[in-house]
Amino acid sequence: MKTAEKRARELRQELAHHNYRYYVLDSPEVSDAQYDRLMRELQELEGQYPQLATPDSPTQRVGGEAAEKFEKVVHRAPMLSLANVFNDEEFSDFHERILKLSNASDVTYVCEPKLDGLAITLRYENGTFVQGATRGDGTTGEDVTGNLRTVRSLPLQLLPQDGVKVPPVVEVRGEVFIRKEDFKKLNEKREEEGEPLFANPRNAAAGSLRQLDPKMTASRPLSIYLYEYVPTEGMPSFETHTEKLEHLKKLGLPVNRHVRAKGLDGVRAAHEASRKGRHELPFEVDGMVVKIDEEDLRKRLGQVSKSPRWAVAYKFPPEEESTLVELIDVQVGRTGALTPVAHLKPVKVGGVTVSRATLHNEDELRRKDVRAGDTVFVRRAGDVIPEIVSVVPSKRPADSKPYEFPKNCPVCGAKTAKDDEGAIIRCTGASCPAQLVEKIRHFASRTAMDIDGMGDKLASSLVSNGLVKTFADLYALNKEKLLSLERMGEKSAENLLAAIDRSKQTTQRRFLYALGIRHVGEATAKALAESFPEVKQLYSADIDAITRVKDVGPTMAQVLFAFFQEPQNRAAIDALLAAGVTPAPPQVTTSGPFAGKTVVLTGGMSGMSRDQAKEEIERRGGKVSGSVSKKTDFVVAGEDAGSKLKKAQELGVRILDEQAFLKLLQGEARG
Ligand code: IVH
Repeated sequence: MKTAEKRARELRQELAHHNYRYYVLDSPEVSDAQYDRLMRELQELEGQYPQLATPDSPTQRVGGEAAEKFEKVVHRAPMLSLANVFNDEEFSDFHERILKLSNASDVTYVCEPKLDGLAITLRYENGTFVQGATRGDGTTGEDVTGNLRTVRSLPLQLLPQDGVKVPPVVEVRGEVFIRKEDFKKLNEKREEEGEPLFANPRNAAAGSLRQLDPKMTASRPLSIYLYEYVPTEGMPSFETHTEKLEHLKKLGLPVNRHVRAKGLDGVRAAHEASRKGRHELPFEVDGMVVKIDEEDLRKRLGQVSKSPRWAVAYKFPPEEESTLVELIDVQVGRTGALTPVAHLKPVKVGGVTVSRATLHNEDELRRKDVRAGDTVFVRRAGDVIPEIVSVVPSKRPADSKPYEFPKNCPVCGAKTAKDDEGAIIRCTGASCPAQLVEKIRHFASRTAMDIDGMGDKLASSLVSNGLVKTFADLYALNKEKLLSLERMGEKSAENLLAAIDRSKQTTQRRFLYALGIRHVGEATAKALAESFPEVKQLYSADIDAITRVKDVGPTMAQVLFAFFQEPQNRAAIDALLAAGVTPAPPQVTTSGPFAGKTVVLTGGMSGMSRDQAKEEIERRGGKVSGSVSKKTDFVVAGEDAGSKLKKAQELGVRILDEQAFLKLLQGEARG
C-alpha cells in the first residue's frame, strides 16, 4: 500500500507535468501513447486501491452524478462583457477617449484573440480546483464544476513553476471553446450516430457545458483558455496585464495568446495580422480583444455599466456574401439522416468559392425559412461548412413556397420518418444504397458478423458495382463475381468467400448487432438476445415487451418496434436466414470453470484476440473485468503481460497462461 501510494503520487505528478507541457507551454515531451500508458497505470493502481482515487486525481475527471439542475453562483466580482467596435474609425474613437481620460500621450495595449465560446470563472482553493461557473447575467451564473472538471486542459491542481507561491484562493476567468478540428470530428461522430449536427463550435461548446450529466460533457472535446483574474489575498499585484498573464502561466494555467501593441498604429497592424491569420488559428475567433496593458491606468478608468472602459472587442468584418439559392435538396447520410442542402450560385466567401451550404436539419430550415429562389447571406465560419445566415425577405420571389421534405427517400424510395429527437428526418429503408456501404461495413465488422477482409474499400466497391444490394447478397457472392472487381486476386477472393461462409455460424447477439439498428450497440444487442433468443420473436413483440428488455427505454423500444415492423427490414432478415445464416441463441452457463467468475485479460495471445477471449468467457457465464482485485478469480496472462500480472501474483489470484486458458475453455462444450 505504501509503495502503491507513492507510485500513485509520482504518476499524478508526471501526468500533471505532461499536461502543463501540452496545454500551457504547447510543447509536449511525450507522445500521446506514452501519456496514455501513465494514465492507465494510475487507473489500474486506483482500481486496486480505491482509497487512492482522490477527487483531484486526473482519473476522476468524470466523477459526479447527473444533476437535476445547476445551482446558482453569485460571482465574487462581476463578470463584465465588452463593448464592440467594428472598424478602424470606431477603434480610433476608443483610443482618443483613452488618451483624453488618461492624459497620456500614448498607450500600450495587449491584443488577444476573441475566443468564440463561453465565459467561465474558476476558483482554486489551496491549489485545488473547487468551483467553476458560467457568466450568467454577469452577477449570478450557474455552477458547472462537474462539467468543467472534464475539460482536459483545465488543471485540477495548480502546478506552480519557478518557485511562485500559490495563494490560498485563486480566481481566474476565461473562455471554454471547441477547436475547429475537434468540432469537425464531433460533428462527424454525431452524424455517424445519427445525432443532429451542431451549427457551429460556439453552440457546441455552450450546449456541452450546460449538460446536466458530466458524462455527456466528458464526451465533448472542450478546451479552455484564461485571460483575467480576480485579485485575491496573496495574489501578487503587477504593473501590467502582460505580467499578470505570465504569472497565471507560472501557476500552471493555460493562458490565451497575447501580443503587446503600441498605440493606434500598433493595434492596426496587430488587427490586420490577426484578421489575415484567423483561418490558420486552431480555434474560431470573431475579433481581437484590445486591452490596456498598464494596470494602474485600468484602475483609474474603471467601468461603465457592464463593461470596462479599458478594453474593447475589435470585431473582424464578417466573412459573408449574398447569393442566390438555386435549389434545395436532401442528402442521405450513413445513418439515413436526411440533411437539407442549399445549392447556391457560386460565390467567393473569405477567399473560398462556396456553391453549397448545409441547412443542418428540418428545424433549422424552418427557422431560417430558406426557399429556392431566395437571396441569402452565406458565411464561412472558420474552416467549418458554409452556412446560410439569413434570407433577404425583400428579394423573395412572389411565387416562392416553403421547402417540403420528401415523404420518400430520394435514393431508395422508402418512407422517411421523423426520429425521436424530432429534429432529424430519416430514410427508413434497410437497403438504401446511400446507407448501404456503411451498413455492410458495420455488418461485417469484427464484433458483428466478423467477416475478415471486408474493409471500407471492398464494401464500397461491392455496392457501386451492383454486386451487393442487401446483406444477403454477401452470401450469394462467388469467385467469378469477386474476380470481376478491380484489384481482386484469386487468393483474396477465396479468403473472403471462406470468411463469409464462416460468418454464417454466429450468435443471436452478433446477428442483432450486425443489423445496425440505430441506438443498438453491443450491450443492447446482448440484452435483446437474452430476451428474444430467436429473431422472429421480434416480429411479433409489441412495444411493452421490448420495453421490458434490460436498459431499453421507451424511445429505443419505439425505434426497435418500428424496425421490426418495416417490411423491407423483415425481408432483409428473412433473406439472411434463408441464405444459411444461423444465429445461435445465447446459452448462459451456470456450471463450469468460468460460470459466475470474474476474469481479467492481460497481455496478447497468439491464438485469439481479446474480444474473442471475452466472448468465450461470457458465453460460459463469466465476467471480464479491466482491473485486478481481490475479487478476481482468474488472470489470463498472455505475452508481455505487465502490471496486472504482477498484481495478480501479489494478491495470489490464479494465473492462467494461454495454454491453460484454452484447455479450460475446451473442457467446455461450445455454447
Ligand atoms: S476579457 C472585463 N478577453 O467576450 C473583461 N473576453 O464580449 C471581460 N471573450 O464575456 C472579458 N475572448 O466571453 C476577454 N481574450 C478575451 C476574450 C473575451 C473572448 C469573450 C468573453 C466576454 C465576451 C465579451
